[in-house]
Amino acid sequence: MGRPSSFVTAILLFACGGLVCGRQPKHLGTIYHDVRRSLLSDSHGQTPEAEEPLPELPAGYIYPVLAWGPNNQVAGLKEALVLGQLLKRTVIVHDILNHYDDKASLNHLTEQPDSMDFELIFNLSRLSRHRSVVTQAELRARGEWDGRLQAVAHFGDMFMSQIKNAHALNVSDEGAVYLDLEALDCTPRELAKLARTLKPYKYVGFILYENVVRSSGHGVKLTPSGNLCHDDYLRLSAQLTKSETLVRLATEFRREKGLGAAAAGGGGVDADDDGSREDGGGDDVGDGDQDVPGNNNDVDYDYDSSADDDDDGESNEDGEGESKSPSQGERYLAVHIRPYPDTCLYAWRREEYDMDLAARVCKNKKLHKVFVPQTLHAIKTYKLSTRVFVMSYPDLRPRISEMYGKKGLEAVFYDESDLEKAVGFKSISLLGMVEEEISFEADVFIGTSYSSMTGIIMQVRGSSTALERVARGKPRSKTLTFTKTT
Ligand SMILES: *[C@@H]1O[C@H](CO)[C@@H](O)[C@H](O)[C@H]1NC(C)=O
Ligand SMILES: *[C@@H]1O[C@H](CO)[C@@H](O)[C@H](O)[C@H]1NC(C)=O
Repeated sequence: MGRPSSFVTAILLFACGGLVCGRQPKHLGTIYHDVRRSLLSDSHGQTPEAEEPLPELPAGYIYPVLAWGPNNQVAGLKEALVLGQLLKRTVIVHDILNHYDDKASLNHLTEQPDSMDFELIFNLSRLSRHRSVVTQAELRARGEWDGRLQAVAHFGDMFMSQIKNAHALNVSDEGAVYLDLEALDCTPRELAKLARTLKPYKYVGFILYENVVRSSGHGVKLTPSGNLCHDDYLRLSAQLTKSETLVRLATEFRREKGLGAAAAGGGGVDADDDGSREDGGGDDVGDGDQDVPGNNNDVDYDYDSSADDDDDGESNEDGEGESKSPSQGERYLAVHIRPYPDTCLYAWRREEYDMDLAARVCKNKKLHKVFVPQTLHAIKTYKLSTRVFVMSYPDLRPRISEMYGKKGLEAVFYDESDLEKAVGFKSISLLGMVEEEISFEADVFIGTSYSSMTGIIMQVRGSSTALERVARGKPRSKTLTFTKTT
């Protein structure tokens, strides 16, 4: 079939990196078909889903004990869902706790909840057709579980205090056995051992964050690696999609603003990107460097493939020179601007941006300097609308608008009042969930590499090359982070 030999080499390398490479040499054609099958059919969430929600599993339940902000919690939840799959246990899904900012602004006159209902954020119907899950509310309503964990599994002592988040959701660890798992490499042997350890306990809490899948919160590798947990995590990114409500809000917003293929409707994992190819020759923003932040925030985004791996020379459907999506909305850029850490906001709020001050309070002090030129560069390179969808802190919006405005760009924001109208309460955390959905669909996305919100957006956009399509299959060259920010 005249494939260039580099193509075959790529397949072989890939196969050996995955699980396909056995001890016996296999015929090339067989390997090729194994790889294709594992990549294109059931590997990354592209399986036809079950007709019915999957049944609960006899081995018992996993209760995810999740930490910190909403997106950190979502990353941990995804890790718990991976464990559920590999340990053959049903995962008890539950509310996501709000960001602490929400608590500060809690208005006791409006009945603002301090957590977000699972089904308000996620499409339970889809998830339950791919994974064995049950909501905490349903399990409790059936009267089968008194809310007590029989065991709490954790990885070292670092995140132990996070058990408080289970308490906040009315789950108790009273009398529970604590099991320190130390670390998990996710080999079949280790998983089998873990399944045996957990066997006596029907309800097991798992305190976890980046223990099951490396860098799950801040920059997981976006291509399959052969590690069971990691690869299942990628697959899951296509299965844990936003709820009807959030997708509808995001779609209405995009339609109203004329951004992207809004009229295509809220399909979650959209069909219109099917078969999209790695974009030929797209530049990264700036010079393609990525930030390498401090040790506790290892970033490992895998988008910077200098050559287009696996590119088979077919052109993509992203249409050079077109500025309209199929439904006539403009092709658009979404950015996430996240001064890090929170102390850095202080520098951004001041009238003049003081680099010396920023050096003291920010880890990404140069973000302020680079975000406008890099935005302009991306708009020019990819021929995008000059109206940019922006995610940032609400009180930085005027500053960002002003800075973009000076260069002829218009910052477009999702309004909290629109959300309040739709759901009946204010919530910065829920606002973030709608903003994410708008960013998942953007033609190009540029995030901030420290952020778990950016991390989750990158995971859901996923990646696509000639051979594989992970999650929503956006070309890797169109999912970026701001560079030279430190
Ligand atoms: C919390 O758990 C207790 C004990 O299991 C139960 O009686 C109570 O109804 C629960 N409260 C809520 C708000 O779910
Ligand atoms: C939710 O999931 C169901 C089952 O996969 C699907 O039919 C429906 O379109 C999804 N809704 C959204 C908004 O993605």
